[in-house]
Amino acid sequence: MAGKIPQSFIDDLLARTDIVDLIDARVTLKKTGKNYSGLCPFHKEKSPSFSVSPDKQFYYCFGCGAGGNAISFMTDYENLPFPQAVEDLAKLAGLEIPKDHSHQRKNEQQYQAQFKILDLASAFYEAQLKGHASKSLAINYLKGRGLDGSTVKQFSIGFAPPGWDNLIKSLGMTDTDQAHLERSGMLVRNEEKDRLYDRFRERIMFPIRDMRGRVIAFGGRILGDGKPKYLNSPETDTFHKGRELYGLYEARKINRKLTKVLIVEGYMDVVSLAQFEINYSVATLGTATSLQHLERLYKIVPEIIFCFDGDQAGLKAAKRALETVMPVIKDGQQAKFLFLPEGEDPDTLVRQKGKQHFEDMINSATSMSEYFFDSLSANIDMESIDGRALFSSQALPLIQQMQPSLLQQMMTDRISTLTGLTIQQLTSSNHLHESFDNSYQSGAQPNQPLADDYSYFSQSSQSDKNPAAPAPRPPTASQPKKKRTANISLVNRTISLLLHSPELISSVEKITDIELIKEDNSDILALLVEYWGKYPKASLGQMLVDWQDDSKYASKLLVISEISRLIPCPDDNYQQLFIDSWEKLRDRKSDLAYAEIKSQHSSLKSNLSSAVKQQAKEYLLQIAAQHKKNK
Ligand code: UTP
Ligand code: MN
Repeated sequence: MAGKIPQSFIDDLLARTDIVDLIDARVTLKKTGKNYSGLCPFHKEKSPSFSVSPDKQFYYCFGCGAGGNAISFMTDYENLPFPQAVEDLAKLAGLEIPKDHSHQRKNEQQYQAQFKILDLASAFYEAQLKGHASKSLAINYLKGRGLDGSTVKQFSIGFAPPGWDNLIKSLGMTDTDQAHLERSGMLVRNEEKDRLYDRFRERIMFPIRDMRGRVIAFGGRILGDGKPKYLNSPETDTFHKGRELYGLYEARKINRKLTKVLIVEGYMDVVSLAQFEINYSVATLGTATSLQHLERLYKIVPEIIFCFDGDQAGLKAAKRALETVMPVIKDGQQAKFLFLPEGEDPDTLVRQKGKQHFEDMINSATSMSEYFFDSLSANIDMESIDGRALFSSQALPLIQQMQPSLLQQMMTDRISTLTGLTIQQLTSSNHLHESFDNSYQSGAQPNQPLADDYSYFSQSSQSDKNPAAPAPRPPTASQPKKKRTANISLVNRTISLLLHSPELISSVEKITDIELIKEDNSDILALLVEYWGKYPKASLGQMLVDWQDDSKYASKLLVISEISRLIPCPDDNYQQLFIDSWEKLRDRKSDLAYAEIKSQHSSLKSNLSSAVKQQAKEYLLQIAAQHKKNK
């Protein structure tokens, strides 16, 4: 469709659109130097990593990698198809889409008409559940499945009564209406008799909505046994099975600030979970989870839990989901795998065991990396050399497809531990190390978080041509390996150095309460120091595994991933750099302690008895002496 609108028109449109205005109307932006920044609308974050460049007319998020031009912003933010985004922008800019492309607009009108009639169809089915002569068939079925009235209403569940032409009679009064119904997949044409009849008859109707809440299709369940158990709308102009998720609109309607999504298999699973107040599940529509599904979901939530039956089919589906999610997942995002007991699905299980039990299961689901290693090594003898070689030959290609990330590094680390091979040895026969090196080049990273001039925008002419595509990783060799240590805060620098060589922590003297230092991320540094104090032998990989599994820590990993790129690979004076940073931190900490005690002292002074005053004075003197000695 995109090709139908002439490129010259699109160029013109982009030239007349100001991306800053466009985005500022939807996201709060602040001017920072040449650019504007704000909280990224495509992922959850607390501090702004979303940047808009008026010069380049681009936006880019250093947190999630979302980026593009005004049109891609409209398609992604407003969830519009490309032609609609162009049309909306054209209206804003006061431009006419060239006449010979008016069929584009006709399509748009056609879609609007389809949405309208699907909405009416949904209302019709809901009304039949309340008023049709044979409504008790449906009501008894729903009651038998344990659904209550408010859940039925929440999902607009309805009833297609018995008969061949209930819907046609009610909504297909004119030929045009019939044509809309047919195009929407609601009618079936009998070619021989050239007659149209209702596709859905005597079924419980589940309307499927898009992200904006428009009904785009239906799933219809038979009342009782019989085949097919579920009949779904066919693919239409406005319904693409592989992209849509049942229940997503409803989940977001209840909670705009979802933090996780559970992917289940069936309509009934979503609906039953919601009845038990688990309002964050979605179902694919009889297909496997696709790349588009995951990309869409990770724009909304940082955590996805895949839920599978415990049988063979479930295991197979899980492997497939694993392969789909691995190339997508970024630092700061999580994927988990939940396996139900054989013969159960979320619907039956939540009814048996209740909300608490089910949520406990969700919370203790297997992390992606754990499942990855378990499933790959399941049928391999890891004790034998051959087995370990086989294992790494299967594991590495999958890891290689991952986004450069700490998670990727952790998983490679783990293979290296399991196989006893170094990363060099593991990667000598493939190119994994290239992406690794890249994730450690500070100057060469498009995700460089602290660069003031957001060098990404001027880095690659390729990304200019195709702004919606993910930013290509620039070749390492051509990039200056600049050290940006001057711009890096003390705390971040210490973290970065520590991440490269955790064992350094044992070479310095302890600082207490690092988190009190008034600088960003001092809390993270404190946690890292605490971690490596407890587990001095743990590698970075081990630390990532441990943190990934604990949501209190997992939320810090995105920041850590960004910080890890600040200082390139260790060089000669690495240890010294760390020791220097550490001692500066100590100064800062004791300045802070001194200032605090002094202020406490003076505010308390007036109320103290003279004996206590004397004690306090001595204490303060002692601290002051200590402070001097430290300096
Ligand atoms: P299930 O058979 O597991 O569905 O199919 P379910 O939700 O548990 O059904 P109930 O509990 O018996 O009512 C899972 C999903 O696969 C698709 C549907 O999307 C269904 O929700 N499916 C299944 C079909 O499309 N057609 C079918 O005939 C069966
Ligand atoms: Mn079921």
